[in-house]
Order: sequence, then C-alpha cells, then structure tokens
Amino acid sequence: MAILVTGGAGFIGSHTVVELQNAGYEVVVVDNLSNSSEKSLKRVEEITGKPVKFYKADILDKPALEEIFQKESIDSCIHFAGLKAVGESVQKPWEYYHNNITGTLLLLDVMRKHNVKNIVFSSSATVYGSPEVVPVTEECPKGEITNPYGQTKAMLEQVLTDIYKADNEWNVVLLRYFNPIGAHKSGKIGENPNGIPNNLMPYITQVAVGKLEKLGVFGDDYDTPDGTGVRDYIHVVDLAKGHVKAIEKVKENPGLKIYNLGTGIGYSVLDIVKNFEEATGITIPYEIKPRRAGDIATNYADASLAKRELGWTAENGIKEMCQDAWRWQSQNPNGFEE
Ligand code: NAD
Ligand code: UFG
Repeated sequence: MAILVTGGAGFIGSHTVVELQNAGYEVVVVDNLSNSSEKSLKRVEEITGKPVKFYKADILDKPALEEIFQKESIDSCIHFAGLKAVGESVQKPWEYYHNNITGTLLLLDVMRKHNVKNIVFSSSATVYGSPEVVPVTEECPKGEITNPYGQTKAMLEQVLTDIYKADNEWNVVLLRYFNPIGAHKSGKIGENPNGIPNNLMPYITQVAVGKLEKLGVFGDDYDTPDGTGVRDYIHVVDLAKGHVKAIEKVKENPGLKIYNLGTGIGYSVLDIVKNFEEATGITIPYEIKPRRAGDIATNYADASLAKRELGWTAENGIKEMCQDAWRWQSQNPNGFEE
C-alpha cells in the first residue's frame, strides 16, 4: 500500500517524501509543478537511493486523480498541494479559493469513491490569527484571518472536520505548521521560491548569496523584546518527520486530530539575522522598514500535544536551521536550475 503525497515536489513535500521513504513507506507523488521542479524528486532519489513514483497532474483534474487511484494501491494521503503566498492571495483570491478549496474537494471525492479515508492535511498557524495568549495550544480558538490564503486553510479544516463528523470511518490529522525553514543536511533539496522571496529565511539566504542587496525588516515597533516580529521557526526535516508520526497515528484509527508542529521557541527577526550571521560567518545588511500589512507581533507554539500523542519533538535548533538553509542556498544559488 502506498501513501499519496500531493504537492510532493514542493519544499515541505520533498523533505517529507525523503522521511517517508527512509521509514520504509511506498510513496506516490502528484504535483502539477506550478511552484516546484521535478528535479527536486530526482534529488530525493539521490538522497534515499529509492525511485519516486511521480504523476505530473493537477488535483483540479479529476479524471487524472481517478486514474492514479485506479492504478495505485493508495491507503492514505498527505495533502500538501496548494498555493501559499499570502500577498498573492490578496491579489488573486479566486485563484486561491479555486485551487486550494476546489482542488481539495475533488481530491476528497476521489478518495472516498476509492474508500481511502485517511488524510493528513497541511494547515497553518495562520488559523490562530493574532493569538491572545502564547504559546498557542490547539484549543485556542481560530482567530481573525486577514488573507484568502489563510481562509482556505481555516475553511479546509472545517470541511475535513465536517466530513469526519458525517462519516467516522475517516481519519483526519490536521497539522498546523509554524514557520518551516532550513533544508535537508545533504544540501540537495530546499526552499526554492519564484521571484523575490516573501518569507524571511529565503530572503536572508538570497542576501547572503549576493542575489539581493539587503534585508528589509518589517517593523521594529511591535510589542516584542526588540520590537521585531517573533515566530516559531521549525526545521523542515523535523516538520517532515512529524508527518511520518502523523501517518503512524492514522494507522491507530484516531478519528479527527489536530496538532501544532513547532519548536515552542519564539525568535525575533533580528534574532534570526544574528543567528544566521553566527552560524555562517556572513554579515546580513538590513534596514528597518514599515510594518507589513497583516503581520502579527508574536506567534509560537505549544507543541506538547504532538509530543504526548505522536511522540514527536523538533530536534534541530536555530543554528542547524541557519546552517542547513545556507548549505542549500550556497550549493544551489539558482535553486534547481543549473
Ligand atoms: P510549495 O509551494 O513548495 O509546495 C506546494 C506544492 O503543491 C508545489 O510543488 C506545487 O507545485 C503544488 N501544487 C499547487 N497547486 C497544485 C495543484 N492544483 N495540483 C497539483 N499540485 C499543486 O509549498 P510548501 O512550503 O512546501 O507548502 C506545502 C503545504 O504546506 C501547502 O499547503 C502550504 O500552504 C502549507 N504550509 C506551508 C507553510 C510554509 O511556511 N511553507 C506554512 C504553513 C502551511
Ligand atoms: N519579515 C521581514 N522581512 C522579510 C520577510 C519577513 O522582516 O523580508 C518578517 C515578518 O514581518 C515576520 C517574520 O519575518 O515578522 C516572518 O515572516 P515570514 O513571511 O517568513 O512568515 P510569516 O510568519 O509571516 O508567515 C508564515 C508563512 C505563512 C503561514 C504563517 C503562519 O509564510 O504561509 O507563517 O504559519 F501562514
């Protein structure tokens, strides 16, 4: 039996395929490559020494999904496929709702027709909005979400919850990721954003490699120790291992489960700059800019439920996150392009 990994050529997906293969699972990847390269899967094969079965297909293409479910013996799905750029989602709400919501509804329909009722879903700490109390637990009510991307995550959590309520044969694990950064230790796979990066770590690594001049720090007047935004950065390999644990949990028929995946530690933007400089010996020039619309001051996880119920804890610290992000960027200044 195989695990279908949608969006498996992407940043988190490719790292998860490595960990699944290392743990002995059969994996089938479906990805339309709208935000990724097939080369990431070639690199995965180099890392694990195992072939990756790959279908280049869109989850909006129902006949293509049907064909995959007919050909392959799939018993569960880890669903990463989706558009994820917060700013772009404000400009293109229809595209985000269609791709993320319609795509997931079609996937779920094909799954249930083939009696595959196990799903691990990529959700986000963004569903908490601006949390009233940190560290944030899974009990914390969903907050006000300021962009269509975040809305799709909250809506899809609701869709999956309602589907589970109507049919208890489903096992649904909602994983709320905090801020994944870093890369595989081999330097072969990593984050490869199109254009100018929106997120902090890829921006920093592109400054370090000389592609960008300096980092803009979005606001230094938040109510945080140094005034810059505080987040819970998690090494992508730890996050990937959390998915292996979630798949193990699914095998216990747990019903509906929600887990935060974070380290429980908050770092400010300037903490990250300092740690990156210490870990790599490279100076990152920066300037303070105005706040970015929609940003919150502080968010970090209480990840103790994942520890108790999944037996999962993040193992890598900020130093490894910075070193591994830099190894990937310096060895692949143009991502997967030669
Ligand atoms: P990514 O863009 O690298 O990976 C997503 C993959 O899905 C890409 O390879 C893309 O080509 C594919 N895809 C998109 N739409 C598709 C479609 N219609 N059909 C088939 N494939 C499609 O992003 P990522 O950082 O690896 O994120 C993976 C998931 O985790 C996403 O759902 C994202 O929203 C979620 N998430 C990411 C973060 C983060 O900071 N990276 C945080 C929280 C949640
Ligand atoms: N930041 C800068 N300069 C930059 C980029 C970011 O100062 O060039 C700051 C932001 O203001 C924020 C922090 O760095 O304080 C982190 O920003 P990111 O864009 O890296 O991450 P976010 O916390 O804003 O968002 C991320 C994902 C979202 C997800 C959210 C919650 O990008 O998809 O975490 O999980 F929804």
